[in-house]
Amino acid sequence: ADRPLIVINFKNYREAQGDGALRIAKAAEDVSRRTGVLVAVAPPQVTLMQVVRSVSIPVFAQHVDDVEPSSTTGFVPPESVSASGASGSIINHSEHRLPEDTVGRLVRRMRDLGLTSLVCASTPDEAARLARFSPDYIAIEPPELIGTGRAVSRVAPEVISRGVEAVHAVSPDVTVLCGAGIASGDDVRASIELGAMGVLVSSAIVRAPDPGAKVEEFARHASGVRGR
Ligand code: G3P
Repeated sequence: ADRPLIVINFKNYREAQGDGALRIAKAAEDVSRRTGVLVAVAPPQVTLMQVVRSVSIPVFAQHVDDVEPSSTTGFVPPESVSASGASGSIINHSEHRLPEDTVGRLVRRMRDLGLTSLVCASTPDEAARLARFSPDYIAIEPPELIGTGRAVSRVAPEVISRGVEAVHAVSPDVTVLCGAGIASGDDVRASIELGAMGVLVSSAIVRAPDPGAKVEEFARHASGVRGR
C-alpha cells in the first residue's frame, strides 16, 4: 500500500455483534468512499461472510488457525476466510497469540490462497523477527496500551519509528501499521508522521457513540484533509 490505511478491528465488543457489525462496517465504507482513505474492517468471525456481502471495502478475519479444512471443529482455516470472500486476516493479535513458526506457516498459506496477511507484533524486535515471513502488513501494538486511550504515537513514539526501521531492514516491502490506544485524529496523524502507513484501531471507533463520525475524524487526519 502506498496510501494511508485505517484498519478497524471490531474484536468481540458488544457493539459489534450481529447487526452491529454491519452498521459499523457500512459507516466505515461510507467514510472511505467520501474521503478516499482506505478503510478496512475486521468484524467478529461469525459475521464475516455477511459483512463481506454488505460492503465493498476490504474485510478481514480477526484470526486464522493453522488447521486443515477438515475435521477441525470451531477452528478457522485460511480456506474458510477465502471461501467467505474476505480479503485476508489479522494473524497473531496480542489477544490471540500464536507461536512464531505457526505465524510463518499461516502467512505462506494465506499467500497461496491470494489472501492478505496482517501480522501483529508487540515490540520492534518481534516485528523484525516476523518480517522475515514477508506478510503484507505488520502492525506494531504495545499490549499494555491496548484499549487504554493512551496512544502509542503519543506515549511511545519511538516504538513506531524503531519498528518501521526494524521491519524495513529485514523486509522493505512490508507495510507497517501501528496501534494501541489510538483515540483521536491527531493520534492517527502522529502515527503516520512517525513512519507508519496507518493504524490498527478498535475501541475508539467500535465503542464510540457515533462510530462513523469517529472514522471520519481519523480519515480526515490520515489524508491531511481538514473539514469538507
Ligand atoms: O487490534 C487493535 C487493537 O488491539 C487496539 O485496540 O482499543 O487500543 O484501539 P485499541
